[in-house]
Amino acid sequence: EHSKKGFPEGFLWGGAIAACQAEGGFGEDHKGISVSDISFYDPDSDRRDLSKHLNITSSVIEKALRETGTKGYPKREGIDFYHRYEEDIRLCAEMGFKVFRFSIAWSRIFPKGDELLPNEKGLEFYDRVLTELEKYNIEPLVTLSHFEMPLHIVNEYGGWKNRKVIEMFIRFAELLFRRYKDRVRYWITFNEINAGRFSTFKSTGLVEDRSEHYLQDCYQAIHHQFVASALAVEKCRRFAPNSQIGCMIARLTTYPATCHPDDVLQAMLDDQYHNFFYMDVQARGAYPPYMNRFFEDNGIEIVMEPGDTEILQNNIIDFISFSYYVSAITSNSKERLAQLDETEGNLTRGIRNPYLVASDWGWQIDPVGIRYSMNTIYDRYQKPLFIVENGLGAEDKLEDHEIHDHYRISYLREHIAQMKEAIRDGVELIGYTPWSAIDIVSSGTSEMSKRYGFIYVDKDDLGNGTQKRYKKDSFYWYKQIIASNGADL
Ligand code: BG6
Repeated sequence: EHSKKGFPEGFLWGGAIAACQAEGGFGEDHKGISVSDISFYDPDSDRRDLSKHLNITSSVIEKALRETGTKGYPKREGIDFYHRYEEDIRLCAEMGFKVFRFSIAWSRIFPKGDELLPNEKGLEFYDRVLTELEKYNIEPLVTLSHFEMPLHIVNEYGGWKNRKVIEMFIRFAELLFRRYKDRVRYWITFNEINAGRFSTFKSTGLVEDRSEHYLQDCYQAIHHQFVASALAVEKCRRFAPNSQIGCMIARLTTYPATCHPDDVLQAMLDDQYHNFFYMDVQARGAYPPYMNRFFEDNGIEIVMEPGDTEILQNNIIDFISFSYYVSAITSNSKERLAQLDETEGNLTRGIRNPYLVASDWGWQIDPVGIRYSMNTIYDRYQKPLFIVENGLGAEDKLEDHEIHDHYRISYLREHIAQMKEAIRDGVELIGYTPWSAIDIVSSGTSEMSKRYGFIYVDKDDLGNGTQKRYKKDSFYWYKQIIASNGADL
């Protein structure tokens, strides 16, 4: 029950990773090449600049396909979770994890995506991961799609803008529900489904230079993901009736830059277009009316097939999950914007908020924003929330086998304190899986030195290192938090 004291009994404390950033095992056991396997690390580029990584062109893909080794492509090696999952899960168990969020790489199960029969070897790996989690009574929270689409779907079908991809994805999803119905109780369909608008290649497999009307294709691809997500909900209810399934967005929290009414309105629109649209479709079961205007103004026409409306309507999700890292500010006036500085952020650049400090990567730290976001979302849908990513990317120093990451502890402590406030506000929160359980390769820039974990992995940006694991100070601190159910902040 939600008492004054804070976190409810049975609250799911844990941590998160994604297959494409952690596993490695490139090409092993028939794994196919995925959209993340072509993410490169560029030592010469500004680490804060995501532009090169977001707009993947045909020539980047072709070059990556010629380079068949792992050098220069850190996600092909990850942190070798593919071979070290036992040790990593044991360490998570030592922290007292109740839940572990990971993804099942589509390209490991259907290497090209369009096969009719799965790759049994790939499935066996996840069988073993689940067995390991069961040893310690850790609940798995499985993401079906976390930037791991087989690259073959991009090159042969044009990614998610092609409706045929729905069928391929559902074949994959149904297989997992059937196989793991008694072993997995929490599922997420698409990681950060709103990334389709910002980090389009990784999310939907669109390549800008292969598109005549890029924005149109973006939203068409997102529509196909909505339908696929709803069909996955339907399959989950049928084949894994004892589990719950949720949607997932990157919560992009935006405040008005000033109290000018136009800025306040702009913040509302940003919220609708970049956050609520995605949750409205999946949690309310229909396209929200405000999008009609947006589509009209941008010359977008979503092609729907008969039956799509019913599919969306009949299969709304059980819970809403989201990532939360930063907040930003917005304005609709060029003059006001000219006076403000830009800064970086998760998925998209933002405007600097003078009241906040930022991480070394320019991500603005805003604990109150998590309480604000939780309330805003819960008010609208009254569905249980699951915070499945939150954390600080920072450079850590290994000194005498120790890592004194007090900055990470304060980041997490302040966010957990605000989550507690939100729970007192009445928000229903199922669990919290900070990013990341263990250091993994950065999604955005494929660096290793932008670390988020409680466990340090000895590996650098170029792939050198022993891969040995070390417990950071935050490891011991988080263990205490879990043991006291968030009371001992
Ligand atoms: C989220 C992704 O966008 O942010 C994760 O779901 C990612 O995969 C995380 O790792 C942090 O981003 P980055 O670029 O710092 O790794």
